[in-house]
Amino acid sequence: MQLLKKRILTDGKTISSEVLLVDSFLNHQVDPQLMREIGEEFARIFKDAKATRVATIESSGISPALMTAMKLGIPMVVMKKSTSTILSEELIQTPVHSYTKGTNYQLTTKRRFIDPGDRVLIIDDFLANGEAALGATRLVQRAGAQVAGIGIVIEKAFQPGRKRLIDAGFKPVSLAAIARMDQDEIEFEE
Ligand code: G4P
Repeated sequence: MQLLKKRILTDGKTISSEVLLVDSFLNHQVDPQLMREIGEEFARIFKDAKATRVATIESSGISPALMTAMKLGIPMVVMKKSTSTILSEELIQTPVHSYTKGTNYQLTTKRRFIDPGDRVLIIDDFLANGEAALGATRLVQRAGAQVAGIGIVIEKAFQPGRKRLIDAGFKPVSLAAIARMDQDEIEFEE
């Protein structure tokens, strides 16, 4: 997606050869117009996927996922990283390890928001090691639903996330795939 790549080049900041800061438009301050374009692009890419729900992982996946769900005319479900102790409803959970942040969490959703037979389109902001996306696929499958697709805003193609998702039988689609980056340059895959 050219618009997104341009924005990464103008406003993204590489803080190392592994981490790209996009806090001015994607995960701290959010550009609604860009999110709308991203939602329209995902809706176009997944128009034949017969998705019945969009799911994302809090928090930065919510903006692109919501815009995608709005364009597709289906609900959006947030998979949470922490569980409220006042929850008494039936939950589905799976452990996830974040290599980037060095943290572990229980990815959690309420069973009643993913029905058996649902086709769930997973949307997330970054694909790095694939842990979060794989966790999301496990939750969908534990609910008895199917993964209709996986859409990623920014893929770091030099990390193993894509391979791990493909090995698990999925075909992630990203809007901008970074082949390599350093302090001076960001290079996208063709
Ligand atoms: P993985 O799911 O692909 O294995 O990735 P990993 O655990 O290594 O990292 C997950 C978290 O780190 C996600 O944020 C993801 O957005 C963020 N992340 C990974 N690489 C980058 C990067 O290059 N730049 C930025 N800005 N973030 C990156 P999170 O824990 O889900 O936090 P949130 O922002 O969604 O709340």
